[in-house]
Amino acid sequence: MEKSNIGLIGLGIMGQNLALNLADKGWSVSVWNRPKSGASESVADHFVRVRGKGKSIIACEELEDFAQTLQRPRIVMLMVTAEAVTEVIEKIIPYLDEDDIIIDGGNSNFEDTERRVDELYKRGFYFIGAGISGGEEGALHGASIMPGGAVEAWPVVKPILQSIAAIAEDGTPCCEWVGSGGAGHYVKMVHNGIEYAEMQLIAEVYSLMKQVGNMNNEEMGLIFARWNETDMRSYLIEITSKILRHRDVTGDYVLDKILDVANQKGTGRWSVQNALNLNEPLDMVAEAVFARDLSEKKKLRETLSRTYNRDTNLALYQRDELLAQLFDTLSVSRIVSYAQGFSLMRKASDTYQWNLNYASVALIWREGCILRSELLNSIAKAFLSNSQLENLLAVSSFSEKVKHTLPSWKKIIAMAVKEEITIPALSAALNYFYGITTAHLSANLIQAQRDFFGAHTFERIDEPRGSFFHELWRS
Ligand code: 6PG
Repeated sequence: MEKSNIGLIGLGIMGQNLALNLADKGWSVSVWNRPKSGASESVADHFVRVRGKGKSIIACEELEDFAQTLQRPRIVMLMVTAEAVTEVIEKIIPYLDEDDIIIDGGNSNFEDTERRVDELYKRGFYFIGAGISGGEEGALHGASIMPGGAVEAWPVVKPILQSIAAIAEDGTPCCEWVGSGGAGHYVKMVHNGIEYAEMQLIAEVYSLMKQVGNMNNEEMGLIFARWNETDMRSYLIEITSKILRHRDVTGDYVLDKILDVANQKGTGRWSVQNALNLNEPLDMVAEAVFARDLSEKKKLRETLSRTYNRDTNLALYQRDELLAQLFDTLSVSRIVSYAQGFSLMRKASDTYQWNLNYASVALIWREGCILRSELLNSIAKAFLSNSQLENLLAVSSFSEKVKHTLPSWKKIIAMAVKEEITIPALSAALNYFYGITTAHLSANLIQAQRDFFGAHTFERIDEPRGSFFHELWRS
C-alpha cells in the first residue's frame, strides 16, 4: 500500500481543517484521534467518512498502524491542546524511528517547545514547534505558519507546510523558518499578544463611538467598513464591521446580547509574563489581558457601578471631528503596539540566540493570520531596509504619522478621561510614547529612593556608565 506523506494527530476543528487543506494540496494524510468512550464509530473514521470523503485521507484506529502507514522519515503533526502534547509524544514515540519528525501545530508555550526540541533531538527525533494562525478558515484555506525548532527537518517539511499556508499578494507563502528551539511558538505567542492589544484597542474605540459619539451599531459598522478601505485595512477591523451589523433571526443585534465578560486561553498572559522576565515594556498587551481579567468581575462591577453612580452627562461632540480623531488614535496606537511587540521579539532573539528575522516575521503575518493587515507591509518594509531596527517608532514614515496624529491622540485620551470612559490600552499607548520619547525621566528619583532606604547605589550623569555610587543620605 502507498504510504502517506504526513500523519495528523488530533481531529478537533483545526486538525480536521488542516487535514483537508493538506489533502487538497495533493498530500496523502493519515489521521488518528484518541478514542472517545461509548462512541460506536471512531472520530477518525467519522471524519474520513464525512468531511474527508473521496480525499486521500486514511483513518487509523491504533497509533501503531498510524505510524506504519507513514512514509519515512515520518512527519507527524500534532493538533492537540498544549496540555496533551507531552502525553501524545510519549504515546507515538515507541512507533517512530530515528530522524522521524514531530510537528506541534498547537499553541504550546515556547519554553516547553524549547525543551522538547532538545530532549527529542537527544532521543533521535526532530521536533518542530509551528505556530499556526488564522483560525478554522486559515487552517482550511491557508494559514500563517511560524515553524521553529530542529532546522534539520525544515527541508523535509517545508514544501508541505508552505503548500497549506496563505499566499501573500506578491505570491510568497506566509510560512517561513523562524528559528531554532521555541522560536516558532514564541513568535506565535507575540502574534497573539498583539492580537489581544489590537482587539482591546478596537473595543475601546467602539465604546467611545457608542458612548461619546452616540452612534448605533449600523453607523459604527459602516464606519469600520469605511476605515477598512483605508490604510487601516485589517482582518480585525473587517470582522468588527461585520459583527456590529450582524442580526439574529429576531432582527436583534447579536453583539448587544453578548455578555461583557471576555475569556482567554493564555497566550496573551504568556506574552506579558515573558516580557516581565525580559524587562521589556509590553504594557498594551498587559492592559488588554488585565481588561479581560477585569471584565470577569461582572458582579463586582455591577455593585460598584451603583455605589459610584457615575452616569455623567456627556458633553456634545461634533461627530465627524470625533471620528477623524478616533481614526488617528487607533492608527497610531496600533503602531505603538507593534513597536512594543517587535521590541520584545528583538530582546527574546538576543536572549535565546534565535537570530530572528523581523522582516520575515512581518511578511509571514501579512496574510492568513488574525493580525493580517496593510500595516504589516509597512512594518516589513521598515525591517527590510534596516534589519537591526531597535524600535518601529524610529522609522521616519511612522514618526511622521505619529507627529501628525498626536494632537488627535491627546484629545481622545483627555476626552475619555473627562467623560470617565475606561481606555486602558489607548492610554497605555500614549504613555509608552511619552516615556520612550523622554530623554530625562524621573527614574533618578527612584534610584535615589532605592539608595536611601537600601544602599542600592546609582549611576551619575557626570560619571561614565557602569560606575555606581552610594550617598550618605541621612548625614
Ligand atoms: C490565531 C488565534 C488563535 C486563537 C487564540 C484565541 O492566531 O488563529 O490567535 O490562536 O483563536 O488563541 O485566544 P484567546 O482564547 O486567548 O482569546
